[in-house]
Amino acid sequence: MVFKAISTPWFPLHLRLIVLCCSLTGQFHCITSAKNPCQVFNGAAYCSHQSLSEIPADLPWNITSLDMSHNRLVKISYLWLTPYPDLLSLNVSFNSISSLHSGLCQTLPLLQTLNIEHNQLYELKTEALSHCTSLIWLNMANNKLKLQGEPFSALQNLKYLEVAKNKFKYAALSSQPQLPSLKYLGLAGNDFNTLKSDDFSFLNHSSLQVLNLSSVSLQTLESGCFKPISSLRTLFLDGSKMGTPVISKLCAELSGTEINYLSLKRTELVSLTTTVFTGLQKTNLSILDLTWNNMEKIEEGSFQWLAKLQALSLAENNIKHLHKDTFQGLKSLKTLNLTRALTKSKTHSGPVIDNFAFQPLGSLESLTLRESAVGEIGAHMFTGLTSLRELDMSWSKYGSPRTITEETFVSLGGSPLTKLNLRGTAIKQIGPGTFSALRNLTILHLDHNFINQTLSGQEFTNLFQVQELYMSRNQKLSLHFDSFANVPNLRVLTLGKSLTGTHVDLDPSPFKPLSKLKILDLSNNNIANVREDMLDGLLDLDVLLIQHNNLARLWKSANLGGPVLFLKGVPNLVTLVMDSNGFDEIPLEAFKGLNHLQTLSLSNNLLDSLKDSVFEDLLSLQVLQLQKNLITAVRPQVFRTPMSHLSELFMNKNPFDCTCDSILWFVTWLNTTNTSVSDIRDQYICNTPLLYFNHSIMDFDTQSCKDMTPFQALYILSSTAVLMLMVTALLVRFHGWRIHFYWNILINRTLGFSDATADEDRGYEYDAYIIHSEEDADWVERRMIPLENERCRFCLEDRDSIPGMSQLESIVDNLRKSKKILFVVTESLLRDPWCRRFKAHHALHQVIEASRDCVVLVFLEDVHDYKLSHSLFLRRGMLRSSCILDWPVHKERIPAFHQKLLIALGMTNQLQQ
Ligand SMILES: *[C@@H]1O[C@H](CO)[C@@H](O)[C@H](O)[C@H]1NC(C)=O
Ligand SMILES: *[C@@H]1O[C@H](CO)[C@@H](O)[C@H](O)[C@H]1NC(C)=O
Ligand SMILES: *[C@@H]1O[C@H](CO)[C@@H](O)[C@H](O)[C@H]1NC(C)=O
Ligand SMILES: *[C@@H]1O[C@H](CO)[C@@H](O)[C@H](O)[C@H]1NC(C)=O
Ligand SMILES: *[C@@H]1O[C@H](CO)[C@@H](O)[C@H](O)[C@H]1NC(C)=O
Ligand SMILES: *[C@@H]1O[C@H](CO)[C@@H](O)[C@H](O)[C@H]1NC(C)=O
Ligand SMILES: *[C@@H]1O[C@H](CO)[C@@H](O)[C@H](O)[C@H]1NC(C)=O
Repeated sequence: MVFKAISTPWFPLHLRLIVLCCSLTGQFHCITSAKNPCQVFNGAAYCSHQSLSEIPADLPWNITSLDMSHNRLVKISYLWLTPYPDLLSLNVSFNSISSLHSGLCQTLPLLQTLNIEHNQLYELKTEALSHCTSLIWLNMANNKLKLQGEPFSALQNLKYLEVAKNKFKYAALSSQPQLPSLKYLGLAGNDFNTLKSDDFSFLNHSSLQVLNLSSVSLQTLESGCFKPISSLRTLFLDGSKMGTPVISKLCAELSGTEINYLSLKRTELVSLTTTVFTGLQKTNLSILDLTWNNMEKIEEGSFQWLAKLQALSLAENNIKHLHKDTFQGLKSLKTLNLTRALTKSKTHSGPVIDNFAFQPLGSLESLTLRESAVGEIGAHMFTGLTSLRELDMSWSKYGSPRTITEETFVSLGGSPLTKLNLRGTAIKQIGPGTFSALRNLTILHLDHNFINQTLSGQEFTNLFQVQELYMSRNQKLSLHFDSFANVPNLRVLTLGKSLTGTHVDLDPSPFKPLSKLKILDLSNNNIANVREDMLDGLLDLDVLLIQHNNLARLWKSANLGGPVLFLKGVPNLVTLVMDSNGFDEIPLEAFKGLNHLQTLSLSNNLLDSLKDSVFEDLLSLQVLQLQKNLITAVRPQVFRTPMSHLSELFMNKNPFDCTCDSILWFVTWLNTTNTSVSDIRDQYICNTPLLYFNHSIMDFDTQSCKDMTPFQALYILSSTAVLMLMVTALLVRFHGWRIHFYWNILINRTLGFSDATADEDRGYEYDAYIIHSEEDADWVERRMIPLENERCRFCLEDRDSIPGMSQLESIVDNLRKSKKILFVVTESLLRDPWCRRFKAHHALHQVIEASRDCVVLVFLEDVHDYKLSHSLFLRRGMLRSSCILDWPVHKERIPAFHQKLLIALGMTNQLQQ
């Protein structure tokens, strides 16, 4: 035999010869084909869905598992498998293999698992599997098997055999005893409809535990058909459409077996009569599944034979009525599933469930009435359920919205009920003491109802044990500060979408008694106002959900009385969800002390610039959600701390500003972090500047920020210069005179008043000749004369004219004797013809004659330069600026004026070049 060669020393040579042959015939690629498309890990190769027509030759030699399912194999050649002698598991399901060669198991002596379902296998001969002695698991479902001889006789170790949907005409796979290890036999969907008495005798040495006969239309069961496999524990007959009489016969045949679990889904057991299960009396049946049977009627006493039954499912039926004796005899039953089992009859107006209907079920621990018609709850509906711990009535159907009262659950008084689910049960009101009989209750679901009332607290009397109370999605719950006074052990409280339009800003807070609360859901309530102390004392609170409210105003700095820091009382928060609240500001203190916080969600708000240390205390943060805000800049001052231990970040859909200042740190962080950030390319988009508009932030050129340092220095330098210039200009503008004043004093102190030489001074009798109009004589007398002293003398026409000399001569003479000529300029001076024509003319003459820079103008009022030149032939521009003085409006500037005046008078008269 060729395959013996595998274990002989010349095998490698043999293989080389094959390779050589292939290469010589131009088919070299058939062995070392182009890189295979399979994935390999942990010694398993996955080659599923690759349109392969052969097994790749270049997989690792030591793989133990190979999945070739969903390909185009039409056969399995032993040559393909010789490179992988360690294979334990081979999956060639969903191909077009039509025959199985004995070479397969010879090449793979260790093979334990073989899946050939959904192929075209036809004839299966004795030899085909004769070497598969290691096989434990074999699936040949969905083929067209024709068994020839004893193909399974060699499978001494086989535990699992699936041969569903092979159009077998008989259940018997052989007439010889075989498959001694078999535990599971799958015969579902085959074409036989009779179980003969010796059909399973081939298994009489094995101890079969599970038999699948689903979708087999059994009509006849010969007596003793299960005898050879009486160790059977589980039997599936789902979808077998047997009808009541055949099921009755089936149960009789199962009598005396070890049957434990019987599944009879979709068997057309429309009507359950008293005798159907009689045969099961001598069994230990503990699970019976009667789901989807269109069952309408259950005769009283039908279950009386099933004293050991522990779980019964009657789900998905059309049962119209449960009588007092329907469940009679089910004294061990622990679980009863009536999900969508009961429908209200149109003809029968009475209750669907009679009083005392559950009374026989003293052991029942869990009752499910989900989505069933329940209708009126009688005073004794649940009487007798002395072990009941869980009652699920969620979405059960009632005629109209109802009020539940103290009477409703009075029949549960004798039950140690811990979990009651009333979700979606059309409750519109809860009366006082409704649950007072349920002292052991720990979990109560009241969500998805129409409850519209103020919770006074009386609704929850006696619920000291309740730890979880779910009241989300109700019509309108109003709170009272005593609402939860009777449930002080609450750990979970949900009030999402229930409080719309009601007030939670109560004093004292309704949550005050709940010092053990761990989870509080106040989401979707449009709450706009809470008190700062609302959560005070909730030291155990882990999870706070307040998304979809309207709390933005509370955190505005402009809020009357300052921001409301309502998180102050819950320092141990781990999860905080505040999405969709319209927040555009976060107060600096908002998250103060939350150093256990791990998840913070603030998505869908209007947040833009965040204050520098607002997240500073969030040292444990792992998940941060800030998507869909208006964030432009992600600066390290804000985000370095909260992002330092982050495992997930969501900041997508923000209008990022892609400039060095705003985004450089973030982009660098993203490039190096281990934090998971999904969709960076598509969802993190620059909004500004134009250069990056609509580009991913990852396109931002970080290099452009590298040369920032010299520019930064330059920037600082130039901005400082500009700033100083502005300050100086402003100072000069508003305090220029003062600065000038002190400057002059300084100069004069150090250099002396006059810069004229002593020689110059000696020639003059007066320091200044004062020309003024008649009207200004008063001002001169008051303001100028007092300045005279031994070092300073003025010449005044009226006072100092030389007696006996004509007025003209006197003027000329005095002008000559004066070092300076001082004009007191006012509109009246310009009008005064004497001053104007003569004195001015003469003075100018002297200026030009003597080349003296000796004119000083003192303006008492603002006079236009044009008028000045027109009347006095003088322009401001002709004189040194220190010789033009303005009489100050402000009194405090008068000393400065004097100072300037003295300087002007002390100036040298020599024209300066
Ligand atoms: C298979 O062999 C390779 C080396 O050829 C080795 O690295 C790998 O660990 C082996 N795998 C198993 C599952 O033995
Ligand atoms: C084999 O392939 C089928 C189809 O892809 C898959 O359902 C099955 O889990 C695989 N493994 C085994 C051991 O049958
Ligand atoms: C098993 O069945 C064969 C015939 O099919 C019979 O000869 C044999 O006695 C049976 N063995 C047992 C243990 O029932
Ligand atoms: C009850 O039966 C339904 C099938 O309709 C199933 O979905 C559900 O899980 C079952 N419930 C229990 C508690 O077994
Ligand atoms: C129910 O509560 C009572 C006290 O109210 C207690 O004695 C009893 O043990 C509890 N039953 C269960 C099952 O917890
Ligand atoms: C709630 O009940 C009050 C009367 O108690 C009624 O006026 C109001 O319309 C009800 N609200 C809703 C939404 O049904
Ligand atoms: C990210 O890092 C890689 C190398 O670590 C670097 O080439 C790339 O420029 C960086 N990108 C950004 C946006 O920093």
